[in-house]
Amino acid sequence: MFKLNGIEKMTIEQKYRYMNNLLQSQLSSEKDALANLSNASAIINVIFHDINWAGFYFMRNEELVLGPFQGLPACNRIKVGNGVCGSAVANKKIYRVENVHEFPGHIACDCASKSEIVIPIIQNDVVYGVLDIDSPKLSRFTELEEKYLIKFVELLVEYIDFKEISK
Ligand code: SME
Repeated sequence: MFKLNGIEKMTIEQKYRYMNNLLQSQLSSEKDALANLSNASAIINVIFHDINWAGFYFMRNEELVLGPFQGLPACNRIKVGNGVCGSAVANKKIYRVENVHEFPGHIACDCASKSEIVIPIIQNDVVYGVLDIDSPKLSRFTELEEKYLIKFVELLVEYIDFKEISK
């Protein structure tokens, strides 16, 4: 059974460190990529406050297709270059959007979303997908979240063969 150890007493930074420790133990104890990515989205969801969506999109036949996530049902496919996720893939760059309503072409899956962070998943120089997190609060994601989410994605890239996911 999964137990959170005293998370309510942790500082925000301790929580994010704990999140990456949880991911590391998940990845080192299970080989199945789908199980790992599903629990990865659940780990983010349980650690982050003020979020309404957390999950993955993966490249399949030149477009992003929805992967494991937590939140409301979301759009199934996103073209490269479209929205925040598609821009992160096209430009191989992290997007931290303080107000999604000011982002040209933002794709609204949940109308409650106000800010968003998207981290591209890059392995051997190839973009295989993105980690996407939405918040109902403006400017929810700061450099602090970005720092720990970069580490989170680095762990995924270390343990998972994304070429297999993007087939
Ligand atoms: N807002 C994203 C689409 C995905 S949903 O937020 C889950 C975008 O603009 O790419």
